[in-house]
Amino acid sequence: MRVTSAKFIKSVAKGDQIILDNKPIVAFVGRSNVGKSSLLNYLTSSKKLAKTSSTPGRTRLINYFLINEDIYFVDLPGYGFAKGNKTENSKWDELMDPFFVNSKNLKLVCVLMDCRIKPTPLDYNMLTYLNYYQIPYIVVATKCDKLPKTKVKPAIQAMANELGLGVDNIFATSSNNLQGKIELLDKFDQFVEN
Ligand code: GTP
Ligand code: MG
Repeated sequence: MRVTSAKFIKSVAKGDQIILDNKPIVAFVGRSNVGKSSLLNYLTSSKKLAKTSSTPGRTRLINYFLINEDIYFVDLPGYGFAKGNKTENSKWDELMDPFFVNSKNLKLVCVLMDCRIKPTPLDYNMLTYLNYYQIPYIVVATKCDKLPKTKVKPAIQAMANELGLGVDNIFATSSNNLQGKIELLDKFDQFVEN
């Protein structure tokens, strides 16, 4: 797919406010600060559609963006922001459970992981959760500009081995030096019927 239009629709703070219409959804999830909002801006060629910040935990809401008047891209709150903080963590679960369970048109979840950082226990929890609910996902390796060019492929291979996934399910991206957009958007087509 190519993004021709993108607009912010709404932010949701409670599970009972999630959008339940028939449009397909592609969601972006991952550790706080991994680059979800930046990736959304990069994919939609806009500088400030989704708010980015160097302060982890910036996106605490579910943010819906309508793409090409037809598909939602959804920026989900980052996990792992409040290390070991049970109240914050259960708030995250309270918001995320209804999203994952009730979004019947959730076609694909992009699980973002920093290409330089080994998958964390929270990343594994996320994948286990998605497997359990049989929600299709791919892994998006972020911030690939932070590695020397020759180290990107080995890092993706290492991530695939570590996660027990095929290397074709991991996408190398950089929102800073603009890598990986076309490959990722084309992958979405396999999951979202036009
Ligand atoms: P939360 O909303 O807190 O969960 O964070 P997020 O995952 O939305 O991360 P965000 O996009 O706000 O980016 C976090 C920080 O990483 C910002 O300082 C970004 O500029 C930086 N960043 C994001 N993507 C990239 C990238 O591809 N390369 C580099 N070098 N920095 C990036
Ligand atoms: Mg964000």
